[in-house]
Amino acid sequence: MSTPPKKLYIETVGCQMNLLDSELVVASLRKEGYELTGTPADADTILFNTCSVRQHAEDKIYSALGRLKNAKQEKPGRVIGVMGCMAQKDQKLIFQRAPYVDLIVGPGQLHQVPELIRGIEQDGQQRMEVSLGRKDGKVDTIKRSHESFDPLRDPTMRPTPFQAYVRIQIGCDKFCTYCIVPSVRGPEQSRPPSQVLAEAGQLADEGCKEITLLGQTVNSWRHEEDGRRWRFSDLLTELHEVDGLERIKFVTSYPRDMTDDVLQAVRDLPKLCKYLHVPAQSGSDEQLKLMKRGYTVAEYREMHDRAKRWMPDVAITSDFIVGFSGETDADFQQTMDLVRECRFKNSFIFKYSERPGTKGADRMPDDVPDAVKRERNNELLQLQNVISEEDNQPFLGKAVQVLVEGPSRKEAIRIERSEQEGEASPGQGLQLTGRTMCDRIVVFDGNARQIGQTLPVVIYEANAHTLQGVVQTDHVGPEVFDLAGSAG
Ligand code: SAH
Ligand code: SF4
Ligand code: F3S
Repeated sequence: MSTPPKKLYIETVGCQMNLLDSELVVASLRKEGYELTGTPADADTILFNTCSVRQHAEDKIYSALGRLKNAKQEKPGRVIGVMGCMAQKDQKLIFQRAPYVDLIVGPGQLHQVPELIRGIEQDGQQRMEVSLGRKDGKVDTIKRSHESFDPLRDPTMRPTPFQAYVRIQIGCDKFCTYCIVPSVRGPEQSRPPSQVLAEAGQLADEGCKEITLLGQTVNSWRHEEDGRRWRFSDLLTELHEVDGLERIKFVTSYPRDMTDDVLQAVRDLPKLCKYLHVPAQSGSDEQLKLMKRGYTVAEYREMHDRAKRWMPDVAITSDFIVGFSGETDADFQQTMDLVRECRFKNSFIFKYSERPGTKGADRMPDDVPDAVKRERNNELLQLQNVISEEDNQPFLGKAVQVLVEGPSRKEAIRIERSEQEGEASPGQGLQLTGRTMCDRIVVFDGNARQIGQTLPVVIYEANAHTLQGVVQTDHVGPEVFDLAGSAG
């Protein structure tokens, strides 16, 4: 008799890099016969893929671990693992805080997860595999210790079957003073274009219509292979030729590397989404200098204006940190001014969270009171929301091309509830969601067959975060015939 499949519960926090990493880990564990479960209580293996970018992200994982105190007694032989950035940052500290954790694996060792779990199952001993610190050896050795394993893919773990992330760069060398990423993800390394193109081709063959290229400073990607020097724009141009792909996006862009050739590629290649995520972080030169961002506000504005001049319809989004060391009211007002001028499609706004081991933590006091950070966060968010809503109004009455991703959030909750209550799955009518080429979220009524298609949707309502619409149909619908019938 064959043994029943082992069950894996995996929880992922953090950025798209982590979502992709989790996809890869799941793919490798499926090969070992694992099945996914959404219930930790059923799981033979429980994994957390973690983030260290802000304290809050770490607190969330430590409290989730706290809840697993008795998980081993409930199911002997169960393996509990912590992977990703917090594993790399806290290392053995995790065993100290949660002694029942079996496994600690950094982002550069994820390919070892199946083997490590097997070892734990055999001898019950804890395992820890992490990369070298940034000062712990020669650059090449450190780089190798941060290698990732991208070719293994698992379609069921993708955002949807027709959308996929493709990593083109790992690590970061920018060392912004507030940021932990360069120390947990290691030195910046670009993946060779031949690998990226092969992976994009494979994904397209599997039915992917949209790929999102990932890198911490994705547009800084460059590579030399077989004597050819590749710029990021060259990679975009070649990816554009991959049959089957309809949309190509990339995140996150670094303002200083938004060169003319990159903007030209986005403007001229029809498959390139007219969407750029280029975090400004602050509108104050003083703050940008302390953050060591490498550009001035004037340079950011110039880049932004150039992009808008070349592509009036491009959607630009940003990240901001409020309450970084020494931020005065005047600094903050300059950030408000920048948001008013640039009119970002949306912005992610974060309260500064001091990260041990960064230059910010070592040399700059975290001197803005939390209440002030909170106030500034709210004020900036309010301003951004007003802008986002205003900028969505011109879509009213217009048709946009939407790649349909699946049921809307509201619909997904309804489906889950009806499944839990044992009701039959809902019929054909579904509220669906998808995105435009400029990354705007569109919600509309449709049916399951439309998922994965690109459809024209006419917008009749617009708020700050979503557009509401109806699918445009050219043919004469049955209701029109009915009307004609009744009239005749
Ligand atoms: N590589 C990307 C950002 C990665 S982290 C870039 O350079 O833009 C995502 C966002 O988290 C950052 O843009 C920044 O706004 C925020 N962030 C990073 N470190 C932070 C910290 N210590 N406190 C608060 N927010 C932080
Ligand atoms: Fe962090 Fe700066 Fe690198 Fe982005 S560019 S990951 S903010 S150090
Ligand atoms: Fe967090 Fe690591 Fe991403 S720290 S933001 S998961 S690279």
